[in-house]
Parts: sequence; structure tokens; C-alpha cells
Amino acid sequence: MRRLPLLLTGLVLAAALPALAQSPAAKAPAKPAPAAAKPGASAATVTTISAPSGAVLLSVKDVMRHIVNPAAEAYWARSGEIDDASGAHDRTPTAADEANWKVSLDSAAQLVEAGNLLRMDGRARDPNGPWNKYAVALTNAGLSAMTAVNSKDVTKTFDAGSAMYDACFNCHGKYIQRPKDSLYKHNIDKDFEAAGKPSH
Ligand code: HEC
Repeated sequence: MRRLPLLLTGLVLAAALPALAQSPAAKAPAKPAPAAAKPGASAATVTTISAPSGAVLLSVKDVMRHIVNPAAEAYWARSGEIDDASGAHDRTPTAADEANWKVSLDSAAQLVEAGNLLRMDGRARDPNGPWNKYAVALTNAGLSAMTAVNSKDVTKTFDAGSAMYDACFNCHGKYIQRPKDSLYKHNIDKDFEAAGKPSH
């Protein structure tokens, strides 16, 4: 059975349509060189930068919202099975459906580098904790996905999507605080304890 957990399927379903409607951004005309961004300026105040700059410009939240999540949704919408009134349907593109395989490949590639973005100085939340391990897991899932998609391997395309999901799930379980009575079952307190940090 190639199905992701229910929670995810719901998420994918809710998000599949806007993701499908996305089109590649139009090429912007070259802009005149702006003044350099002040060090430590928040993303909200930085409108442009002058090259070269290794500065982190977007928050983790914005990287999630605008890079990681749309890429993952686009990928998941094209893998695994989904049930409806008429039965189970495989969402993986057919062998001849080059356009959708291309979307899967683009999305997988975006996640490969997104893992690196999460590890950048100034963005990595917990350089000595498992943060980097989860970011690397995202990159590796993206690399597996690219391999699977390049060979149009249906099972491996799904498996890479599951690995992606695990990376999201594990990192969120540790780094996004939830109320004690949350239905989300991961034992966050145990993770904090193992990392020698006070529980919340
Ligand atoms: C290395 C850690 C890490 C990984 C891997 C990760 N996330 Fe996140 N994600 C976070 C953190 C931390 C936040 C909370 C950011 C905040 O609110 O400041 C977050 C927040 C989010 C949000 C909420 C953004 C908002 O608008 O508040 C979404 C959606 C999300 N992640 C999707 C994903 C998906 C999908 C994946 C996997 C494909 C993923 N994330 C992988 C750390 C991670």
C-alpha cells in the first residue's frame, strides 16, 4: 500500500489545487544595485541586497511557507494513492506524462537545496542538536526523490515522499512546541530531556 498517514493526505488534498495552479515566476528585469542591507536587519526590513551576500534573509517560517511546503505539496500531490468514492487512485504521473514528472523533479530539487538553507548560519536553530540531522534528512529525501523521478520508479517515488514526510515530522516534533494535550503523539518532553534541555 502506498499511502501516507491520513493527516498528510488531508493536508495534500487541501493544498493540491493551489499547488497545481502555480506557474513559474516571470523573469524580472534587472534592477539597479541597491544599498547594502544592514547586518542583522530582519527579513521584513530588507527589500533588496547588493551582491555578494551570505546573509540569511528569510525566517525559518518563511522558508517553510514559501519554499519547503509548496515544494513538498507539489511532490506529494504526484505520488501515492488516494481514495475516493470510486476507489483507490494512483497519483503518480503516467510514464508519458512528462509535464507532471517535471514538476516532481523540480520539487524534489527544491527540497534538496532547502535542506541546505535550513542549515545556514543564522537560520539553523540548534546547531549542536539534531536540527542539522533533520535538515540533512530532507536533503537526502530530495536526492532520493530526484533519482526515483528520473527513472520514473513509482514505488521509489512514493518511498522518497515518505522519507520527506519523516524529515518534516521529526523536525516539527522536536522544534515546534505543542500544548500538552495535543493529539500529536510525538514525545517532545523526552527529546528535550535527552538533549539536556528543560522541558516546556
Ligand atoms: C530542520 C527542521 C525542519 C524540517 C526538516 C522541516 N521543518 Fe517545517 N518548520 C520547522 C520549524 C522550526 C517551524 C516553525 C517556524 C516558526 O514558526 O518560526 C516549521 C514550520 C512549518 C510550517 C508552518 C509555517 C507557518 O506558516 O507558520 C509548515 C507548513 C512547514 N513547516 C512545512 C514543512 C514541510 C512540509 C516539511 C518537510 C517537507 C518541513 N516543514 C520540514 C522546522 C522544520
